[in-house]
Amino acid sequence: MNDHAQLPPGPKEFKFRQALKMGLSIYDYLQQCADEFGDAFTLNLPGMEPMVWVSRPDMVKSFFSLKPDQIDQSKLAIPIDVGDNQTGFINNEEHAHSRKVIIPPLVSKRLHDRAQVMHEIVTEHIDAMQPGAEFDIPRLVGDITLDIACYTLLGLRSGEKRDQYRDLMLAWIQASTNNTMFLLGNMVGPSKWRNRLHKAYLKKTRKGDFGHGKKGILPWSYSVELKAQLADMMRRDIREARENPDAQRNDVMYTVSHARYEDGELLPEERVISEAMAMLIGGHETSAATSAWYMLWLLKRPHVYKKMHDTVLQSLAEEGRFDPMKITEIPYLNACLSESQRLTPSAVGTMRCLIKEAKIGPLTIPPNTNVLAAAYLTHRRKDVWGDDALEFRPERWLQGKLPSPFEYYPFGGGRRACVGSNQAKQQLRIIFAEFARRVEFDSPYAHTEQWPGQQQVSGQTEPQGGVPVTVTTVRPAHYGLPGSSLQAAS
Ligand code: HEM
Repeated sequence: MNDHAQLPPGPKEFKFRQALKMGLSIYDYLQQCADEFGDAFTLNLPGMEPMVWVSRPDMVKSFFSLKPDQIDQSKLAIPIDVGDNQTGFINNEEHAHSRKVIIPPLVSKRLHDRAQVMHEIVTEHIDAMQPGAEFDIPRLVGDITLDIACYTLLGLRSGEKRDQYRDLMLAWIQASTNNTMFLLGNMVGPSKWRNRLHKAYLKKTRKGDFGHGKKGILPWSYSVELKAQLADMMRRDIREARENPDAQRNDVMYTVSHARYEDGELLPEERVISEAMAMLIGGHETSAATSAWYMLWLLKRPHVYKKMHDTVLQSLAEEGRFDPMKITEIPYLNACLSESQRLTPSAVGTMRCLIKEAKIGPLTIPPNTNVLAAAYLTHRRKDVWGDDALEFRPERWLQGKLPSPFEYYPFGGGRRACVGSNQAKQQLRIIFAEFARRVEFDSPYAHTEQWPGQQQVSGQTEPQGGVPVTVTTVRPAHYGLPGSSLQAAS
């Protein structure tokens, strides 16, 4: 190791205490460390290699430019078994090939066709709402995005099979990502835990033992059983997709089922299953957590929600209809989501597991270190965002120059940036445009200055206790359309 390679300073507290503070209030703890130690600091958690957090844009730039042979993402601290052979955990050429395979079904041109379906799904959920109904925003948005995932991942819009998939996917997500499973996984060590669960899943699959749909005594056995059931459904669909080519289908499962390695071989079935499951997990809680913070800002800034409502109505007047593609291009609506993701990113940081010494800005970091670019801290820096950095002000996105990818990165960056960012932004823009046009919510948070603490759900940061809301008004689907008698109602 180079003599100069060293870890930046950090708190001297016991590892368990650091882990506790991260679990209970990660935003506040990171800010406290940044205030004390500056642009880079080291945290130490039980069972993990040291974590070096950086937030200065030049350091973030070096971080996103790390070469594939400097890192090993199979060591990522995610204690969920989606199979080790999927984009998030693989390295080098295999990783680059994987992104080539899964990005096409998620890119903009196809998203254009899907905006219409996303809007139909959002409409179904809003039509089913009644005044007085109570929801927790992350769970409500999680349900909507799960319906969207059935369509974009599996090509299923409705019907018995869609419902079966939907129920199973939700049950598996809940069983694999709850606090008990995360606690156990972190105690055993995330990658060791993933391997154990994966072996148990393969054993069940070989034996054709898909369980009886009941929770057993061991907290992990239900999650393994549900994964075996879900994978079995997917396996049958992969075979069917391969036997029946269909030029009309462009969902992820179909496209990846037909993808080949450079030598012409089809990807193994287990690999296709892992990619589909990783995208399901990757897209679910991230969107739910992002929506929770977004709604919290809007509840506390009713004038912003009202302006979003007026902006959507203006678009309807111009277009003569709710055009979901046009809606997703409205600068003010996009500015509101960006501002929420700036101040309260659901992924506080994004991680690279260093296996070789690396330069991060002026620092030389030793191997066997987890380096994290701390989006939460970079997004709040006054030297980047100005003296009003901590204010929620969507207008900042409409004036002046836009931030660089090293100043704003809620979806990570570089070679490993989120593959689902376009889809995620598009669905959240449509959901919140329709909420603003059609639904009024009340919430205890609308009547207090108080902010909730933070909790970790599936590795995402969410408001502690969720964001409870009560529906006070639901306007009909034609509200605001030219010619509608409800044009001016509110
Ligand atoms: C608001 C929603 C979302 C947020 C905040 C989010 C955030 C992130 C972040 C921070 C990363 C790590 C990037 C890095 O290491 O530089 C990531 C990776 C990833 N995301 Fe997302 N994500 C979201 C939605 C989605 C969706 C909808 C999908 C799938 C359809 C998805 C699939 C993935 C995958 C496969 C990766 C791994 C990429 C790789 O390692 O090459 N994400 N996401």
